[in-house]
Amino acid sequence: MSLQRMLKLLYALVLCVSANEDFDWTKNERGSFYYGTFPTGRVFLGAGGSAYQTEGAWDKDGKGMSIWDVFAPKKGKDLPQRHRRPLLRRILQDDITLMKDMKFNHYRFSISWPRIFPNGSKKGIKYYDDLINMLLDNNITPIVTLYHWDLPQVLHEKYGGWQNASMVNYFNDFANLCFERFGDRVKYWITFNNPWSSAVEGYETGEHAPGLKLKGTGAYKAAHHIIKAHAKVWHTYDTQWRSKQKGLVGISLLADWGEPVDITNQRDIEAAERYVQFYMGWFATPIFNGDYPQVMKDYIGRKSAQQGLGTSRLPVFSSQEKSYIKGTCDFLGIGHFTTRYITQKNYPSGRGNSYFTDRDLVELVDPRWPDPGSEWLYSVPWGFRRLLNFVKTQYGNPMIYVTENGVSEKVQRCTDLCDEWRMQYFKDYINEMLKALKDGVNVKGYTAWSLLDKFEWDEGFSERFGLFYVDFLNKNKPRYPKASVQYYKRIISSNGFPNQREVESWRRKATETCSSSNQLLAADPLTSHMEMVTEIVVPTVCTLCILLAAVFLMFLLRGRF
Ligand code: NOJ
Repeated sequence: MSLQRMLKLLYALVLCVSANEDFDWTKNERGSFYYGTFPTGRVFLGAGGSAYQTEGAWDKDGKGMSIWDVFAPKKGKDLPQRHRRPLLRRILQDDITLMKDMKFNHYRFSISWPRIFPNGSKKGIKYYDDLINMLLDNNITPIVTLYHWDLPQVLHEKYGGWQNASMVNYFNDFANLCFERFGDRVKYWITFNNPWSSAVEGYETGEHAPGLKLKGTGAYKAAHHIIKAHAKVWHTYDTQWRSKQKGLVGISLLADWGEPVDITNQRDIEAAERYVQFYMGWFATPIFNGDYPQVMKDYIGRKSAQQGLGTSRLPVFSSQEKSYIKGTCDFLGIGHFTTRYITQKNYPSGRGNSYFTDRDLVELVDPRWPDPGSEWLYSVPWGFRRLLNFVKTQYGNPMIYVTENGVSEKVQRCTDLCDEWRMQYFKDYINEMLKALKDGVNVKGYTAWSLLDKFEWDEGFSERFGLFYVDFLNKNKPRYPKASVQYYKRIISSNGFPNQREVESWRRKATETCSSSNQLLAADPLTSHMEMVTEIVVPTVCTLCILLAAVFLMFLLRGRF
């Protein structure tokens, strides 16, 4: 039985025991829909993507290798067809037209570090220059991430990547170059995207590049250097660029919400808080308050001592570092997709250590939650409002940009452009954000994740998050709008959810358009097939013919002399 199934069953049992209290944490009955709009000019809606997930052309135009260029093929997750494509200006222009048509306020993308630095080329810089200029020409604000997981491979090989403190200066040099080249036009910078994944999946579980399994230490060390690198880059901007460029620098943290399984049980309540502190608080608390969350220091410190270690596995910031790191955030980016129920569980420290056992908790899911796509992604809209309120109270109501929120689809459904479940997900999650705004949370922007179907890291191309379907096998990578494009477009143009009658008509109208797109898509395999014939079969046959002719000629000539 899979772990996921066991968790579901376990949770079903838990539900029977703990009844279904309505938590009055927000005085909001879950499930109730709020009709209303965002205050004019207050919350901006757009979409996003990232360099490694969408660009292709991994070896074109002087780009160096990233850790993902090495890791993904090893895992058999990369499709060569996708990467044969050089960066196409035409595609950029087409994508920007799509965004313009949807009336996006902003587009979030990342700059590939190895594309422009340290072995990068002018062509890489020109590519991002063009992208930024085209966005601005169309009144779309660029929100630019400096690190969306694609560390230059050379820095990994030479220094061990984020395990090494030297990354702080390397990253700062790269960021400084970006401020210098693009900062006249880019006003929103995100230093790191979801450093939790870089640290935990890159250096603890090894599911992500560079694939290291340094249990119980690797993630903490990587995070320590990432936090310092973030702070350094913020200071660089603050001291060298801010007065001229007048932009903002933030970080984007991913966090699931953790809800106590039993709201009356103090141990569950604390475990749920620990879950969020070990997730988002790990990065947010140093950045807002100067040091790691107390609960992380206590738990990891105690377990390290029990293991006979002289010092905690959680590194320590000096008092100078604390004051240098504190306050280095002009806005907080939040990536949020799902929620877990949390209950307390002790893990004896003798049995090996890991980030996960350090937390002393178990994650559960409600089997009734919809899970249309990725295995981990359950649709639990009310968790979003709670997370946003948590940020408000924990970190002094910072300015928030939701930098990622969306849902994928399972591969069997991938050619279904009538993505009912995605419309529902966006409707409910954006509605919870609207409620959070009414709670006083300082949300400024929302980024649907993602504009396009793209490479989904360790899942390869099997999970599609896009508003637009992309045919990866076709050389031209055509895009087809899913029904959610129409739906999201209406949320944007109405600036929220004006009234029940109108909102209910959106779904019907959106589904009308997607069946014709489905027909277009159905014709596409033929095009891909033709391309395969012209790109692979024809050249192979021609080469064979030439070889045969050469051999034949050799025989003829031998016979003659
Ligand atoms: C967070 C990552 O930042 C993003 O790249 C990814 O596509 C989403 N999670 C969905 O898994």
